[in-house]
Amino acid sequence: MPSTVKPGLFTGLLRILLFSTLLIAISAPSTAQAISNSSQNCPFAKPASTTASKRAIQQIPIDVEGEHEFRMPQKGDRRGPCPGLNSLANHGYLPRSGIITTLDAIVACQAVFGMGLDLGGFLSVYATLIDGDPLSLDWSIGGSVHGLLGIGSSDGLSGSHNKYESDASSGRGDAFLHGGDASTLQLNNFKSLYKLQPDPSPGNYDLNVIAEHRKATFNYSKMNNPNFFYGPFSGVIVSQAAHTFITRFMSNNTENGPVLDKAVLKSFFGVVGDSLDKLQVIPGSERIPENWYRRPDDHLLVDFALDALSLQLSMPELLSIGGNTGKVNSFTPLDIGNLTGGVYSAQRLTDPDIFVCYMFQLISNVLPDLIKTPVLDILGIVGRLVGQFILPHYSPQGCPALTLDTSKFGIYPGRQGSGF
Ligand code: HEM
Ligand SMILES: *[C@@H]1O[C@H](CO)[C@@H](O)[C@H](O)[C@H]1NC(C)=O
Ligand SMILES: *[C@@H]1O[C@H](CO)[C@@H](O)[C@H](O)[C@H]1NC(C)=O
Ligand SMILES: *[C@@H]1O[C@H](CO)[C@@H](O)[C@H](O)[C@H]1NC(C)=O
Ligand SMILES: *[C@@H]1O[C@H](CO)[C@@H](O)[C@H](O)[C@H]1NC(C)=O
Repeated sequence: MPSTVKPGLFTGLLRILLFSTLLIAISAPSTAQAISNSSQNCPFAKPASTTASKRAIQQIPIDVEGEHEFRMPQKGDRRGPCPGLNSLANHGYLPRSGIITTLDAIVACQAVFGMGLDLGGFLSVYATLIDGDPLSLDWSIGGSVHGLLGIGSSDGLSGSHNKYESDASSGRGDAFLHGGDASTLQLNNFKSLYKLQPDPSPGNYDLNVIAEHRKATFNYSKMNNPNFFYGPFSGVIVSQAAHTFITRFMSNNTENGPVLDKAVLKSFFGVVGDSLDKLQVIPGSERIPENWYRRPDDHLLVDFALDALSLQLSMPELLSIGGNTGKVNSFTPLDIGNLTGGVYSAQRLTDPDIFVCYMFQLISNVLPDLIKTPVLDILGIVGRLVGQFILPHYSPQGCPALTLDTSKFGIYPGRQGSGF
């Protein structure tokens, strides 16, 4: 089993202090190990060949043959807004039907993409609760599943607008601007990302490039979508992930570290074409490239928090909750401190451990209040899922309690229901 690091406040701080070390040590088997034994980086400590063979062992190729060959989805198979999950289903790493269980997603995302079990657990538990059936633990990566009983109404990821699926995605369009379709990749969005690396060079879509794109996608929704909503979960969390995950999970692990070039980017997004003006989206064709090597180490909740916070450095609005109030360019942020009784200020959220606490508290304490159901013991169900799939990999030590006052969201016409 992969490491189940439980980041406390101390390791969080350590990670920030050693952030540059982390970047250098990215190809080491585990960042913790790389930090604790700096002699590994000393050219005199070991002959060069040992280092080379170590690298070779760390290359984790992903099998795309036999039972994991690429196949287009068939009629009835669900595919939705997430290119990661769509490609897993297209290669049989998830059931090709696109109807999966809580555990399926966690296992496949870790095995193929190196998504930490804490992060995968968090994302999949949320999907189960909000989009799926928390009794059978089935959920759909795309359209709804009839016949499933569910508090989340079993709408699937595609039906989860502003509950999971969010505005200002990196590739998907805003529901309001596309007749409710927020699941299909929009060519213009993809092009605006694609052209951030000059043609015809292979390019590398690293986190700096993604930060540029993030500014453009947020700005686009603000300037064009009168109903733009940037919620406490769908905005602050999901919308960042939809950007940082591109670099962190799609990059090929080359001998020179992670590289995400144009060909690999297009493959994972299901896009073909040799140059900007020839690009074409083929819906359902998200594909793991041949000869692709996944990241060697797991990307944990706290790593995601660090990435999300790094995006926010160049765009402070990303740490607010808000939206347009019915007109374009009317973005009105609400102060997180005010919404949480002063407990989680924007300032406090810049601590990655507190950021993860905020995520954890949203799912374990705020969500049950938002899901109104007279029939099910929703608090018990949330507790059971969190206990089974998140707590074994993440301990929320010292997380301040969170209550969220959503009554002020009334000024945002684009919020869906209570707005999450
Ligand atoms: C349990 C695991 C996962 C869940 C529940 C999940 C869910 C979602 C959802 C709801 C969206 C839509 C967000 C939006 O509208 O902005 C999304 C988008 C996205 N996801 Fe995932 N995801 C998971 C795993 C992954 C993995 C392993 C990858 C790896 C590549 C990934 C990459 C992305 C990307 C790049 C987007 C943005 C797509 C676009 O805007 O065109 N996700 N995911
Ligand atoms: C550091 O690496 C050296 C050389 O590989 C090894 O002998 C030593 O035990 C390691 N120390 C720790 C603390 O892991
Ligand atoms: C924001 O969008 C507007 C209108 O679409 C555009 O004119 C402006 O250049 C954009 N600004 C940034 C920083 O992208
Ligand atoms: C990934 O990197 C390896 C090592 O550099 C290379 O051999 C392979 O072709 C690359 N894969 C893709 C899909 O670019
Ligand atoms: C939030 O703001 C409102 C009005 O601006 C104020 O009445 C209220 O006391 C504030 N609440 C907190 C917890 O700061």
